[in-house]
Amino acid sequence: MEKLLIAIIWPTVIVVTILVILVKCISKRSKNIVVVAQNLESPTLNGLYKFTIVEIENAINNIGKINVRSTRKLIGNGSRGELYQGILPSGQAVAIKEMHKREDAMESFISEVECLSRARHPSIVCLLGFCNEDGKQFLVYENYSAGNLAQYFLREDTVLTWHARVKILRGCACAIKYLHHYIDGCIIHRHIKLSSILLSETLEPKLCGFGQAKMLGMEESQVFEDVVENGVYTDPEYKKSGLLTCSTDIYSFGLVMLQVLSGPRIAHFGQDDRNILLTKAKDVNTGKLPISEFEDPWLKGKQINHEALKSILQIALLCVAETSKERPTIEQVSEELNKAWSLSNIARPINIPPM
Ligand SMILES: *[C@@H]1O[C@H](CO)[C@@H](O)[C@H](O)[C@H]1NC(C)=O
Ligand SMILES: *[C@@H]1O[C@H](CO)[C@@H](O)[C@H](O)[C@H]1NC(C)=O
Repeated sequence: MEKLLIAIIWPTVIVVTILVILVKCISKRSKNIVVVAQNLESPTLNGLYKFTIVEIENAINNIGKINVRSTRKLIGNGSRGELYQGILPSGQAVAIKEMHKREDAMESFISEVECLSRARHPSIVCLLGFCNEDGKQFLVYENYSAGNLAQYFLREDTVLTWHARVKILRGCACAIKYLHHYIDGCIIHRHIKLSSILLSETLEPKLCGFGQAKMLGMEESQVFEDVVENGVYTDPEYKKSGLLTCSTDIYSFGLVMLQVLSGPRIAHFGQDDRNILLTKAKDVNTGKLPISEFEDPWLKGKQINHEALKSILQIALLCVAETSKERPTIEQVSEELNKAWSLSNIARPINIPPM
């Protein structure tokens, strides 16, 4: 009898324990969301200021100094929300995002608050605070006066120098490296593209758009239901499998690097534009086309360092490989960009023959 009991009880205890551990692991993420959602009710969250809706309205309307809605200054309208310019009572310029009324608005709002309240880095957008009142959600960021990288490439009055481009890519790689090695796991951005890179007045990059970011624990990959709608920048392997790894960001960043080298003046970067860009990059890399084919025509003959261009092109092509196995890690990308930066900073002899 005793033996029978032991034979039944022990396996049961073990099975139950395993189940409890499993359930705990699975619910860890959703619990995080609940914790953040509850904390939204407290006055501050990880050092973020909780704005009232009146403060938000004042900041937005202060721009025109008159309390009429029409004086609001819209600086962007993305997939997640409208971006307005604002001024805080201290005089600080801010950018305020009002979340669109979408089913997933709250989740995306929480994802930004959760990630940006923890991830603080010189090359990541600085979130100052948030507001969740009257069924409306706002995010208040530092204002970066040069807009985003996609807008910058469309400007006719200015062009990004070669130095600025390498500096921007280096800064972004540094931010991604920081995210991918975030304490106890990693943060995967999932939405890296030209317009997710803001530029400060001195053209320092600030990675933004964390509405779809995911925090993973120590496990290396995870399957999520919501494969992102990043479109042309989405890692093809992730699109098929739904299995999220750091390599997903590497693919998107590879495309960004190629765009920054070639300087696209395309308002909506589509599937065809991407395919043309990739084919051209491959042809230049194999020598089928001269490297001059990949230079931004706006920069031609000016300060481009061809050796640096070639090495960035090579690492970018590895990043956009079809499978994650073939792609480099962010450390490897970062290292190549640092080399390219050193090369670009060596003064070029005047009579260097064109390549
Ligand atoms: C921004 O875009 C959304 C659709 O994505 C639209 O509903 C909204 O009216 C737009 N806002 C402005 C101010 O144009
Ligand atoms: C805030 O940033 C926008 C670009 O997004 C820029 O047009 C505007 O001048 C900036 N405002 C201030 C006060 O710096």
